[in-house]
Amino acid sequence: MSSSKVFFDVGISLDGYMAGPNASPGNPMGDGARAMHGWIFQTATFREILGMPGGERGTPDDARVQQVFARAGAYVMGRRMFDEGEVAWPENPPFRGPVYVLTHSPREPWVRQGGTTFHFVTDGLASALAQAKAAAGGKDVRISGGVDTVRQAIRAGLLDECTIHVAPNLLGAGQRLLEGLAPGEMTLVPVRADGSALVTHLDYRFT
Ligand SMILES: NC(=O)c1ccc[n+]([C@@H]2O[C@H](COP(=O)([O-])OP(=O)(O)OC[C@H]3O[C@@H](n4cnc5c(N)ncnc54)[C@H](OP(=O)(O)O)[C@@H]3O)[C@@H](O)[C@H]2O)c1
Repeated sequence: MSSSKVFFDVGISLDGYMAGPNASPGNPMGDGARAMHGWIFQTATFREILGMPGGERGTPDDARVQQVFARAGAYVMGRRMFDEGEVAWPENPPFRGPVYVLTHSPREPWVRQGGTTFHFVTDGLASALAQAKAAAGGKDVRISGGVDTVRQAIRAGLLDECTIHVAPNLLGAGQRLLEGLAPGEMTLVPVRADGSALVTHLDYRFT
């Protein structure tokens, strides 16, 4: 039995949106969503992972980025998130490990620099998760997104932990992380909360 935990770690606006309206590869995360993730681009760790100079080190926000990339050994994501990243991620994408992309359209694996390989999985979330766990080398598996994929994992009861980064801005429209979930579909225990002037980080454990 693998001891890998399955988690998601996503950013939302204060009104609950994980993506703004009109999200597309040319408009990643949708209208207004960049403000929601502003904090991450100010961390030295995230900038370093993307090959960019600068940023702040030793802050709670930077520690969060370090921890989330260190703990994940494999990733699962939906095809729409992948489509945005395919044009936006650098040649050395931030994953540095296997990424299992859910889709109904088969495609050959796409090998990138730095250890990231995208595998396209056409037989569903449970299969993608099993493959990710087997490939994670004992590390945890991150359900990276997008909105539909995270909700499927919640509904299927596949998650052990999650972190939600709440930005203080409103998006007003788009795709809400928890839209349509009934109260009994997600029961959480709060584990930790911290933050900065830009964002509040909330950790939960699924029961
Ligand atoms: N705020 C954050 O932290 C954060 C993080 C990640 C992503 N996002 C945003 O989330 C948005 C994307 O989310 P989304 O809900 O639109 O889409 P998504 O979850 O990324 O992808 C949905 C697609 O995945 C495939 N899929 C999902 N479940 C499947 C299954 N069980 N079997 C086979 N294929 C399956 C289907 O692809 P096919 O149509 O190819 O069959 C489906 O159209 C993007 O705008 C992205 O920027 C935000």
